Amino acid sequence: MSEADVFAEISGALITRTGHHYYEDKERLLRERLRQRVEALKLPSLAAYAQVLKGERGHDAETEWRQLEDLITIGETYFFRYADHFEALRESILPGLIARHAGDKQLRIWSIGCANGAEAYSIAIVIRELLGDAFDSWRISITGGDISEGALAKAREAKYGAWALRTLSDAQKSIYFDRLDPRTWVLKRAYKFVRFERQNILDLLSPAPPLSWTGFDLILCRNVLIYFSADKAVALTRALKARLNEGGALLLGHAEATLELDPALALPLKTEFEQAREPLPTQPWMPAPLPDAPWPQPIAPALTGVASSPLQAASLEEVRAAADAGDYERAHQLSRALIAREPLLAEAHYYDALISLVADGQDEAEAALRRALYLNRGFALAHHRLALVLLSRARNAEAKRALQVAIELARHMPADAPMPEGDGVTAGVFADAVARQLEHLSSAA
Ligand SMILES: C[S@@+](CC[C@H](N)C(=O)[O-])C[C@H]1O[C@@H](n2cnc3c(N)ncnc32)[C@H](O)[C@@H]1O
Repeated sequence: MSEADVFAEISGALITRTGHHYYEDKERLLRERLRQRVEALKLPSLAAYAQVLKGERGHDAETEWRQLEDLITIGETYFFRYADHFEALRESILPGLIARHAGDKQLRIWSIGCANGAEAYSIAIVIRELLGDAFDSWRISITGGDISEGALAKAREAKYGAWALRTLSDAQKSIYFDRLDPRTWVLKRAYKFVRFERQNILDLLSPAPPLSWTGFDLILCRNVLIYFSADKAVALTRALKARLNEGGALLLGHAEATLELDPALALPLKTEFEQAREPLPTQPWMPAPLPDAPWPQPIAPALTGVASSPLQAASLEEVRAAADAGDYERAHQLSRALIAREPLLAEAHYYDALISLVADGQDEAEAALRRALYLNRGFALAHHRLALVLLSRARNAEAKRALQVAIELARHMPADAPMPEGDGVTAGVFADAVARQLEHLSSAA
């Protein structure tokens, strides 16, 4: 068998096991992951690795599949992801469920594709706050399920870096977490009432799905179905809905929300996303390049000559994955390597800024955001992030201008189009949320 055939065989088997259609056009990413496993097991070739996956060469096939699945899953997540979802959960969904269950005093909640547990724990925090003193008299069951054993181990540990806590203020961090060291927070015991277990969501479509996967009042399955083919994603959405109690709620990720409506709408998911990434035409009201934009300038010259393959192959996905795993040093290295290779990629500068912020590098972050905006003046998320940096430095007038630009850019897009680098949030939701922020800032002035 040729190397290409072996690769096709492994990739096909992987897609069947995980449902991750996603890897059909992410060959380079998958090749890199396979290379890591071949190296880790000190094997001579990919063909030898294929034998390992079949239980040959003295290895247990299931153990190796799980290792590989851990490597290929993308666990990007953070606490209180999607402010609009958490506003709805706090203001209406959970109070409604609590009222509905005032008699039996029990709630069953499922976070499937829970990654490092941030989503399930965010729900635990909100429920505990909503129930207050009554909490002890309720039976609250929250289950976090994920295919990745590595993600589940992190979830059980409940230790997080600044990247996973990026939406929390310092005050909130100290209410919900204890600080272990300057870079690590651990969730307080009071919010740790979540059970984690390995689950493959595809089992919902098997002839005999696990018996316990039913009778939920709330299911969160956010940013998981994006990796599946549209027909599988639609079938899974239906199956999830069938697992809800009467009056229960299913929350999907922003980019997946159309699946709830009509399968026909779900099909162009990816195309819609890609279209939305097209730079917006320049508008007269967009700000001119900022006078102090520190561009062009050589970036990370030390890295331009780096030939080692992982860095050279750095992609935005890998930058995000490293940051998500709490490995900020590597995330920074990867973002710098990506910038060295593609200096005109505004998104790379944007992520570079986000990573700098984790280490309190406000100056660096501001410069990186200005570079991103120099390259793409229509980058609403970068304007918004710049506004937050400026606010934290008490430069409110500049921050307000940046917020205004972010709102106008979003209003210029169709309300239901996803914002580029906006984690699936639509332009309408983003514009409204930023407008509320601006209003708040103006009224506080
Ligand atoms: C991008 S994260 C989403 C985390 C969280 N739900 C959120 O929205 O912030 C996707 C998670 O889905 C998990 N996942 C992928 N395929 C899965 C499958 N077939 N069954 C269960 N979990 C899966 C991945 O391991 C990863 O942790």
